Amino acid sequence: MNTNNVTVIGLQWGDEGKGKVVDALADQSRYVVRFCGGANAGHTVTVNGERFALHLIPCGILHPSVMNVVGNGVAFDPETAWAEIEALRQRDVEVGPGNLAISATAQVVMPWHKTRDQLNEKQLGEKKIGTTARGIGPCYADKANRSTAIRVGELLDENTLVQKIRLIGAIKNRLFESLFDGEALNLDAVVEQIVQLGRNLAPMIRDTGGMLRRAVATGDRILFEGGQGSMLDIDHGTYPFVTSSSVSACGVPAGAGVPPKAVGHVVGIMKAYTTRVGAGPFPTEQDNETGEYIRQRGKEFGTTTGRPRRCGWLDAAVVRYTAALSGVDELALMLLDVLSGLKELKICTGYTLEGRPVEDFDPAQLGNVECQWETLPGWSEEITDCRRFEDLPAGAQAYVTRVEEVTGCPVGLISVGPGREQSLPHHTQIEGLA
Ligand code: GDP
Ligand code: IMO
Ligand code: MG
Repeated sequence: MNTNNVTVIGLQWGDEGKGKVVDALADQSRYVVRFCGGANAGHTVTVNGERFALHLIPCGILHPSVMNVVGNGVAFDPETAWAEIEALRQRDVEVGPGNLAISATAQVVMPWHKTRDQLNEKQLGEKKIGTTARGIGPCYADKANRSTAIRVGELLDENTLVQKIRLIGAIKNRLFESLFDGEALNLDAVVEQIVQLGRNLAPMIRDTGGMLRRAVATGDRILFEGGQGSMLDIDHGTYPFVTSSSVSACGVPAGAGVPPKAVGHVVGIMKAYTTRVGAGPFPTEQDNETGEYIRQRGKEFGTTTGRPRRCGWLDAAVVRYTAALSGVDELALMLLDVLSGLKELKICTGYTLEGRPVEDFDPAQLGNVECQWETLPGWSEEITDCRRFEDLPAGAQAYVTRVEEVTGCPVGLISVGPGREQSLPHHTQIEGLA
């Protein structure tokens, strides 16, 4: 069995810097594969000062020798995907069947899923999840419902597709009109749009599972690119304030169609602090000057929605839990540069609940716990030009070492800026990480 593969997953609430790490590792990979989520993701890659924000297309697209795969576990929005492909082509990035394969068994995000997402949130008012409004939840709900779902492969058979759009669209419209007081979608326009998108995307629609299992057999390296962060996992996150797919390494086999052993070496991506977009518990949140300092220095505004991200201190209890869930082999500690200039840094090392220490991490209790804090000295120097661990100020070195101790995982890479070159190798076990 091939253990040459690498899985990159987020250990917090998303936006940990997965895009940068996938880009770093893509050159040594034959395949880069998305296995969960959809256009709710926003992965940033910065190459020579040029910024690319990718939503549905895997981050390996900037590497000519990589085959990029949108796996069966993805909620695939053909409209966003096509816009993204065209935008990349305009920037002279080649995209076509030679470097992009879209699973025929991935789910199609239809226009009514986006409408439904928005209507749900509007009806919920204060109780809303704070979704990205990309139709993700309603799309996966239809996947589970089966009879009202459309799979990517169905885009290839126009006659059946048109019949299906009209049948399902009529059901959705009746719902919007009667339950939500919302406007019906123009189904003629939906038919025209989706049929055209299907034609555009047809050359890239494939049986990607078969392709990846062959790679597993031959030993070609696959890099699995996680979306979201493990605390947003549908089963293991802060439910109901989560997304609708399995985003930890546990989601790789089902979402890509490969055996569990193909997950390979797991790199857990974490920020040196914590952020979250949307609603839900966040024990270490700093809704104060510290949070604002982090937001400004880290440019903590959503890649997909532009919303300001909620910011706070590092929650090591969260990382310990999510690293254990995915069997993380090493950590990539991102955005350490953002913490420069803070006099003191705090790390949450565990929780108490009603005065008693919490033994087992329970995401359902995160709204009720109190943090157990540890305070470390900060450092004043900017560190964006550091390239070796030894170049870091003593405070930053001590912070990294403490992160390793409290999470129980080695830090393989330390990132001190968005650029490809702004990475320091530390205790990594894989070539090319930094
Ligand atoms: P992803 O969703 O996990 O790929 O992360 P996002 O792209 O949504 O957000 C991470 C942001 O941090 C992006 O704007 C990156 O360019 C940026 N970034 C990544 N690593 C670093 C770093 O070490 N320092 C700083 N200052 N920015 C970084
Ligand atoms: P990347 O891959 C940060 C959050 C949303 C919301 C919740 C549910 O860039 O790390 P959804 O639209 O999925 O139904 O929203 O999940 N969310 C993310 N937050 N980064 C992401 O992706 C996210 N994808 C979803 O903000 O709280
Ligand atoms: Mg993101």
